[in-house]
Amino acid sequence: MSSPAPAGPAVTLDVERVVCRLAELGPQGARGFVIGGGDWPLRGFVVRAGERVYGYVNRCPHAGHPLNLLPDRFLTADGALILCSAHGAVFEKAAGTCLAGPCPGKSLTRVALEVRSGFVMLADEVDVAALTAEAFRGS
Ligand code: FES
Repeated sequence: MSSPAPAGPAVTLDVERVVCRLAELGPQGARGFVIGGGDWPLRGFVVRAGERVYGYVNRCPHAGHPLNLLPDRFLTADGALILCSAHGAVFEKAAGTCLAGPCPGKSLTRVALEVRSGFVMLADEVDVAALTAEAFRGS
């Protein structure tokens, strides 16, 4: 008779702050999320670039539109850059800076993330209400 495998260290996740599983993104994927309640939840998206994942508020610095028209469609066709579908601004993934389009040099609002136990989550220091208010003040 074999004994049960030893349990690994207990991991506690705040499910309210989970965006998705890392594996759901694929090597160059993107995914939108809504976290928080009320009339003004945080609407954001995450993008993966290899082993790194970056998060941003889903609000373009050009005219304030959401970047995507279709669910989870945040990237250029080759997956290399973030694309705003409204007027074609493109942003680098790592810093969220506009490289071309109507708002060169402006940046998306960063959402700090952590990856824990295979889950992409908002970092502990992210204040959802404050971040949402900041993003809307910035336009
Ligand atoms: S709102 Fe994004 S490019 Fe105009």
